[in-house]
Amino acid sequence: MTFETGIFLFVVAVSFVSCLAILISTLRTGSPPMPSGENLRREALQMLESEAIPNGAIYDLGSGWGGLARALAARYPDRQVIGVEASLLPYLVSRTVSAFVGPKNLRFVYKDVRRASVKDAGLLLCYLSGDTLKRIAPALEDGLPAKALILSITFAWPGRKPAETRRVRDMFRSPIYLYRGHETTVAA
Ligand SMILES: C[S@@+](CC[C@H](N)C(=O)[O-])C[C@H]1O[C@@H](n2cnc3c(N)ncnc32)[C@H](O)[C@@H]1O
Repeated sequence: MTFETGIFLFVVAVSFVSCLAILISTLRTGSPPMPSGENLRREALQMLESEAIPNGAIYDLGSGWGGLARALAARYPDRQVIGVEASLLPYLVSRTVSAFVGPKNLRFVYKDVRRASVKDAGLLLCYLSGDTLKRIAPALEDGLPAKALILSITFAWPGRKPAETRRVRDMFRSPIYLYRGHETTVAA
């Protein structure tokens, strides 16, 4: 076997294992690690601009490759931003990137969000499927401070009425929902 063949086989094997790992974690969590696009991120950050975010950490629930969490950390340098991710490969990539380029107020946790404590949260953000939200919302509601904001991209947070909904100018007119903790009525 030549050196080039060895390299080729190595790259094929790494790609195969990576795809398999992503497939398995997507089947497990119900949400693929598809990053939110520029338009969604811009609109989400704009929506937050006029909000008084209560004191506390900012969580990206299901942080994928870390792009949204990084944008949040850059926008809110005085806040601790925590990306929580249950898929190993995206978690390792986001953690490695932040180890090299920071910023200091950003960290990533390898965990199912249902086991994450959000007691210190001022804001939760997520870009998760509707089924995933149904699974995770009850566990997170439990320890969430009453005043915390929730911003959910594309799918509505179950059991709450949004204080504001905006549609992004993309081909799906994707909605973004904002829930102001103390103003949000929790449906029975
Ligand atoms: C659509 S991606 C969003 C990535 C990132 N938030 C963004 O906007 O670019 C959803 C991510 O949530 C993760 N995820 C889904 N369910 C999860 C759970 N229960 N705990 C932790 N991560 C989860 C998936 O692995 C996936 O990477």
